Amino acid sequence: MNDELRNKIIAYLEWYRDLYGEPPAFPELRAEATSLMAGTADKRQEKERILQAFSQSIRNCTRCRLAKGRTQVVFGVGNPDADIMFIGEAPGRDEDRLGEPFVGRAGQLLNKMLDHIQIRREDVYIANIIKCRPPNNRDPQPDEVAQCLPYLLRQIEIIQPRLLVALGRIAAQTLLGTKLSLGQMRARDWSYQGVPMIVTYHPAAILRRMDMLSTALEDFRKIKALSQKLASGEAG
Ligand code: URA
Repeated sequence: MNDELRNKIIAYLEWYRDLYGEPPAFPELRAEATSLMAGTADKRQEKERILQAFSQSIRNCTRCRLAKGRTQVVFGVGNPDADIMFIGEAPGRDEDRLGEPFVGRAGQLLNKMLDHIQIRREDVYIANIIKCRPPNNRDPQPDEVAQCLPYLLRQIEIIQPRLLVALGRIAAQTLLGTKLSLGQMRARDWSYQGVPMIVTYHPAAILRRMDMLSTALEDFRKIKALSQKLASGEAG
């Protein structure tokens, strides 16, 4: 697909979304993703291009009230062809300012936890349930989640990670469609649309209760082990 066609499709999708809401699918882009799966193009480069086009198409999103207070949409960061995708809650002040998820104190802890299992931040993909900062870092409201979630689902569809990691209650409850507590969700293995999912504590919660760190690091070791297993094709 050439750039001119891509830009036309994006302009059309934006026009469609403004009039009717989220289009049922992004057929041309989906076709690209399918051709990737067939191995007809360099996967990573193509996914990068698709993600970039998608990111551009939502940069002026006004689907919910959070558009008013944000500095920018915080789309996501990392390897577009990542095996592991980490999903947090919503951008905080630093993320809103810098345009990248998990760059504040919670992000620094996340980086250390990744170091602990010898996984590089740039090798995973990191995104949030909500792409714009809620005022005073309040919990995202259900209508905000409903408007924003399709964006994350589209990212998952493009990246096709082998393993999802939900960081914290909001991410896990949203993806799993449950009201179970974090403790209850953490204690089980999950999958989201066929993709294995691990639920663990949000780094910001660990910063408030450092006694949870060792348990969270156990989860991270599990993330490492399971991702290795999935990459080698051993996991069922
Ligand atoms: N907390 C989140 O859930 N996401 C971020 O990007 C930063 C802090």
